[in-house]
Amino acid sequence: MAKKKILPAHEVSGAISIPGDKSISHRLAILAALAEGPSEIAHYSSAEDCARTLECLRRMGVVIDRQQDLVRIGGVGLTGLRRSRRKLDAGNSGTTMRMLAGLLAGQNFDSTLTGDESLRRRPMRRVIVPLEQMGAKIAARERQFAPLEISGAVLKPIEYTLPKPSAQVKSAILLAGMFAAGETALVEPVRTRDHTEIALAEFGASIASNGKAVRLMGRPRLTGRQTSVPGDISSAIFFLGAALVLPGSELFIGGVGLNPTRAAVLDFLVQMGAPVRIVNVQMQNGELVGDLSIRHALLEGGTICGASVAQMIDELPMLAALGPYTERGIEIRDAGELRVKESDRIAALAENLRRMGAQVEELPDGLRVAGRAATGRTVPLRGAEIIDPRGDHRIAMACTVAALGAEGESVLQDPGCIAVSFPEFFATLEAVLKR
Ligand code: S3P
Repeated sequence: MAKKKILPAHEVSGAISIPGDKSISHRLAILAALAEGPSEIAHYSSAEDCARTLECLRRMGVVIDRQQDLVRIGGVGLTGLRRSRRKLDAGNSGTTMRMLAGLLAGQNFDSTLTGDESLRRRPMRRVIVPLEQMGAKIAARERQFAPLEISGAVLKPIEYTLPKPSAQVKSAILLAGMFAAGETALVEPVRTRDHTEIALAEFGASIASNGKAVRLMGRPRLTGRQTSVPGDISSAIFFLGAALVLPGSELFIGGVGLNPTRAAVLDFLVQMGAPVRIVNVQMQNGELVGDLSIRHALLEGGTICGASVAQMIDELPMLAALGPYTERGIEIRDAGELRVKESDRIAALAENLRRMGAQVEELPDGLRVAGRAATGRTVPLRGAEIIDPRGDHRIAMACTVAALGAEGESVLQDPGCIAVSFPEFFATLEAVLKR
């Protein structure tokens, strides 16, 4: 699929479900591999990223059987991983690379972790620094980029304050902490997603967290389990976005993960006037899950800054692309992190939204996207002959949704990149789209 035509649409209506959460799937797979006894993970993410994690674990001797979204993992125990003869390839997945860096640091064998072009340009010092403090031996290109050559070492626990909010760094330290004797302690000045903490507790590790500090006892004994992954709210956001772009829309999205460290985007949408309803909330393997429904409404617009940035980090592309459809526009600040994601998301959003006629001001740490009040347009965007997502799945989906409400058709380059997180995106969209 070299290019994809995006035609304007009237509404998205009906009921959909969303594949399993990407972040949770990575974590459950890794912990199941380290557990004693078999595990079953239902509704495992269909993302290419999560398949990368499974493939890396296989290369280290873990037996994995996958039937669509049901994954069975034969746990090898905490000390049962074996050296991979080949490099471990994380593809496009930052989570795979950073979490596995923590896992591999404490093994009694050496490993090389690599990734695709985009991942080999992303910052890795943020995991190398704390892992080295624990005694890890990691050689990196220019001391900061993958490939990472990790020599197995005996690790010691540390107390570490995260200099920047990052669940990936936190998780890397916790995974390394499992191989250190004693208590590893982490302080998070800004709270980030806590799926690793929840999954560690579910598998039987001794871990305590109060939302600011996490303490993990090393050398835990994990036990294989049956678990199920909630739908990915960071994928659901594109459908919430489509409903807010297209008048007449009415959507129901079943079984979405609502972990409070991930669901801030729903509060933000409601604050802007979106009629989002949450029902059937329940706890599933330590994670909150519920059904969402949404109707179209004209949004007021708003600003995202400070601590909430970390909690909506993956939803920011869709929120920015909603900007032209809101009354007062969307402003994002304190989000310099967006520049080191799968692409420079600030530059990619500014470029593509401008191609559709949006008024965008690019800031060093965010962007301002003007709303209807400033542009005075009834149809805020026009189709763009080229939408270039720069190989970034979330830019591709956010711009596709923006293009659905535009006047005239758009052409999305490289739609295949969407499979990194949501291979079913277009099929799901087709099922609810009315033209
Ligand atoms: C993730 C954490 C976030 C997020 C990424 C997935 C995770 O990254 O952007 O898509 O699964 O831990 P950072 O921890 O680098 O902010």
